[in-house]
Amino acid sequence: MQILVIGSGGREHALAWKSSLDESVTRVFVAPGNAGTALEQKITNIPIDTNDFAEVENFCRKENIGLVIIGPEQPLVDGMSDYLHDKGIKTFGPSQAAAQLEGSKTFSKDFFIKYGIPTAAYAAFKSYDESLDYLNTINYPTVVKADGLAAGKGVIICNNKGEAISALDSIFKDQAFGDAGSSVVIEEFLEGEEASFIAVVSKDKIIPLATSQDHKAVGEGDIGLNTGGMGAYSPAPIVDERIHEKIINEVMEPTMQGLISEGSPYLGFLYAGLMIKDGELKVLEFNCRFGDPETQPIMLRLKSSLVELCLAAINNEMDIVNVEWTEQHSCGVVIASEGYPENYATNKEVQIIDEDDQNAKLFHAGTKLVDKKILTSGGRVFCATALGSDLKQAQSKAYNLVEKVSFEGAFYRKDIGFKGIK
Ligand code: AMP
Ligand code: GLY
Repeated sequence: MQILVIGSGGREHALAWKSSLDESVTRVFVAPGNAGTALEQKITNIPIDTNDFAEVENFCRKENIGLVIIGPEQPLVDGMSDYLHDKGIKTFGPSQAAAQLEGSKTFSKDFFIKYGIPTAAYAAFKSYDESLDYLNTINYPTVVKADGLAAGKGVIICNNKGEAISALDSIFKDQAFGDAGSSVVIEEFLEGEEASFIAVVSKDKIIPLATSQDHKAVGEGDIGLNTGGMGAYSPAPIVDERIHEKIINEVMEPTMQGLISEGSPYLGFLYAGLMIKDGELKVLEFNCRFGDPETQPIMLRLKSSLVELCLAAINNEMDIVNVEWTEQHSCGVVIASEGYPENYATNKEVQIIDEDDQNAKLFHAGTKLVDKKILTSGGRVFCATALGSDLKQAQSKAYNLVEKVSFEGAFYRKDIGFKGIK
């Protein structure tokens, strides 16, 4: 079977790599992919325009693609899954309607209230003046969120009213997030510890994946600007058995049932970003896709087939698919370019010595292959990921792998996994 993975990040390298390990898979294509996918034996990058769904369809027909896995949120929110599905191509990823859970904060917050899913108190506004008035009525800190997709940057934590006014100015007046900022959600600031809960969902059936925790802030000790994620580890001890059950009962089940009632049952990876405090949880956000970098450590722990899991979800065979995890722990450390998550340089040549060992894997993210050289092309450049008998060992192996990579301006957090070890 041949497979197509859509996307170019570390998540897509991990999904494509994992798919390529199946004996039944003869080739994995990635559109557009990165230098990491270009260098894998059974993987080929293809330069098709993924905004042009007809071009994607034609490619699938030409190569007789048996499964399309859509990695990032944008093509899902744009309706790629519906398009390919309607053409009879087996596609793993939610419909445009279901992807609104991530595509619109207002939609998702209203959905949480309608279906009784625990979340922070909030109000949604389309106008600058009304949102400004609302700032007089709330406590601080507060959180101002642009409604639409903003690559993880549309959430601004404001310590006082002045900061909240600046946030509204940047969203409404400077249009820092373009159309994504045509409306805002202003919500209660939640304290606690965050965890990512990611599952494969097919209508009313759910297979939770191994638990994980991301590190959103750019600096050690969770200081500084929020990023797409600077590293992740799995399992996440904060999600113990009781919390796991609560997440299923209070968050995932009502979400799956709610989407069925709305006429848009879910198919794909469903990611709940949670805040946990004193054994209680609230949903911060939903993502309609796998997390990046959570995918990288989670894929390293998956012993059974990713391809069979995705096909089981598509073919309504969730009850019979085999899913196995290694008991080992996994840790992934993101290597980023100086300046990220703000401005950073690209086209820096990368040196890598003596890359992978069996229990470690250097996943590429913002890289490209030019004249056989690896050049940087994004803010997050690699995710050095490793397995170990415990988190401490996984962490130390991941950092050994980090040491093998160098490029001008490379930086990484030195404390990935600290919350799981303390
Ligand atoms: P979101 O995209 O809504 O998950 O927000 C991105 C990040 O902002 C989250 O992972 C949290 O670290 C932080 N965040 C979002 N909403 C809140 C909230 N209500 N209280 C505290 N932190 C938040
Ligand atoms: N790592 C967070 C995300 O994928 O949204």
